[in-house]
Amino acid sequence: MFKRKTGISLGCDYNPEQWSPDVWREDVALMRSAGIDLVAVNIFGWSNVEPSPGRYHFDDLDEVIGLLHENGIKVNLGTGTSSPPPWLSSLHPEILPMAADGTIRFPGGRQAWCPSSPVFREKAYALVEQVAQRYGAHPAVALWHVSNELGCHNALCYCEASAVAFREWLRDRYRKIETLNEAWGTSFWSQRYSDWSEVQTPRAALSLRNPAQIIDFHRFSSDELLGYYRDEAAILRQHSAVPVTTNFMVTAHIRNLDYWSWAPEMDVVANDHYLDHRLGDPVAELSFAADLTRGLAGGAPWMLMEQAAGAVNWQPHNLTKAPGEMLRNSLTHVARGADSLCFFQWRASAQGAEKFHSAMLPHAGTDTVAWREVLRLSETLDRIAEVAGTTVESDVALVFSWESWWSSEGEARPSQAVTYLDQVHAAHRALRELGVTTDVVSPDADLSGYKLVVVPCLYMVSDTAAQRITEYVENGGHLLVTFFSGIVDERDRIRLGGYPGAFRDVLGVLAEEFAPLLPGHQVGLSNGATGTVWTERLRTTTAQAVATYTDGPLPGVPAVTRNTYRDGLAWYAATSLDPRGLRELTRDAVTAAGATAAGPESGGDVEVVRRSGDGRSYLFVVNHGTQPVEMSGHDLVTGAPITRVDAGGVAVIKEERE
Ligand code: GAL
Repeated sequence: MFKRKTGISLGCDYNPEQWSPDVWREDVALMRSAGIDLVAVNIFGWSNVEPSPGRYHFDDLDEVIGLLHENGIKVNLGTGTSSPPPWLSSLHPEILPMAADGTIRFPGGRQAWCPSSPVFREKAYALVEQVAQRYGAHPAVALWHVSNELGCHNALCYCEASAVAFREWLRDRYRKIETLNEAWGTSFWSQRYSDWSEVQTPRAALSLRNPAQIIDFHRFSSDELLGYYRDEAAILRQHSAVPVTTNFMVTAHIRNLDYWSWAPEMDVVANDHYLDHRLGDPVAELSFAADLTRGLAGGAPWMLMEQAAGAVNWQPHNLTKAPGEMLRNSLTHVARGADSLCFFQWRASAQGAEKFHSAMLPHAGTDTVAWREVLRLSETLDRIAEVAGTTVESDVALVFSWESWWSSEGEARPSQAVTYLDQVHAAHRALRELGVTTDVVSPDADLSGYKLVVVPCLYMVSDTAAQRITEYVENGGHLLVTFFSGIVDERDRIRLGGYPGAFRDVLGVLAEEFAPLLPGHQVGLSNGATGTVWTERLRTTTAQAVATYTDGPLPGVPAVTRNTYRDGLAWYAATSLDPRGLRELTRDAVTAAGATAAGPESGGDVEVVRRSGDGRSYLFVVNHGTQPVEMSGHDLVTGAPITRVDAGGVAVIKEERE
């Protein structure tokens, strides 16, 4: 990718506009000493490079890029369009985004623009044109960074410009208004449209809104920003042969873009990831996000565009990282396919909303744990440079869908306690605890190479995807599905005849009704596991019951089943199993499928992932636990043979392979 000669690049966001030129010099000298070789600039540069309408001022950016270049540091150049300057929103308040309740979101923060605003687009594209012309052939520029985290705050805009664009998008999809009526089920509650002009964005309403309209609005909003990305990229490509990307937010709390459709348009897939201490298991979520990012990259190496050296500033309690933790986080990303590690940000801001966000260079300077940890990471990356370009080995896949995320968490549903990401995380975590590396794939992926495919809570599934999953089992694949899957088609229309609709046959079961549980309630299972959140009145058709409920609303009813289907095997969990129960079931499925675990079953304390390629093979060992783990071989991190990896330690074992 964009490495120091060969290997894994180390980079950061740099905001020189927050500092004076003498600080720039110190910064670049320190960057060199830390081995930084890729620096993102002009991410929030608009008001500096275009201080008033049409008057461009590039002197500072010229100087910063020149300084970086003289010091052998490559530039990841922002187009600068992520946050419009105050003059633009003052002159054209119509660019401001509108929330679902019809209120405007004002400037003063960032990203205050409507993705469909023709005025915003015109002004942003004019800036991109200037930046591309000026730096498109600059030898330091190694990567284009379009905008920043597109859709982080403004993905869903409900204003009139958005409504116009939404109608166009709908016309394109449905052609005839009658087809839209059918797709949205508008016979319900007198919602039938007679003309396109009557269709609105799904603004806040007095009662429950039309769920199919909301799903289409999500699809539209994702496509709208993707179209915006494409436009910026096209301008850049007219002036430059350098790869183009933008930073994704594959993370626990942002869900508005369907990155399966975005990823093919990126020259390199890049993700931002921050440990989220609001989650039950933030480290397990990091592994999941990395696996999903690799899935988006189609298995190819990817970039971590942002992570934090220590604490963030936007969670209720912003925990710092203990010595060694940032290295473990970083090597987990590399283990799972990253060939480039970048940070937000280089130097901690002295002012502004992010002044309490950590940075590689903290407020206290270089005589700090944080700085020494950066140097330690840099040294480690040098030592493991040869892993770059290899890919991650896995024979288990987990199916993930943004559409299912949007639709399963609609306004009116059987239980508000069913939260898609929690179910996905639980399924991924069970595999991780067993030492199994998982590819996270789209519902439309080719599954034929996998020994086991896990489908958690896939509420919305298209006919094609359902058929593909079924054929995978017919041909000998093993499948594990969890509850609230296969329920609706892409129109959010129930698949009639009993649940789990699309997967009834392959699973050999039929549920006639859902029986969700109240918060705090749990049911016992005959195999010793417990279930929460969900049960269903399920009967087997061709499956065998593996466990039944011993109490709760449905005693004696199957809770876990197993079905031989043609040459394959399909398991179903009809309740939200406790972590141990889910792990046991997953272990049975992994064993039956003959899937591979790269490492020991450690309950997640020790992550072991193999990267290989071109006759080379490396075993990454990340020990999050409090006990050493036995592992032997030649370790690239220490440059010596080892027999164990200490508590909190990391190793990259170079394997002998024929
Ligand atoms: C990201 C963003 C950065 C910075 C960071 C703080 O969402 O791209 O600019 O705000 O979060 O964690």
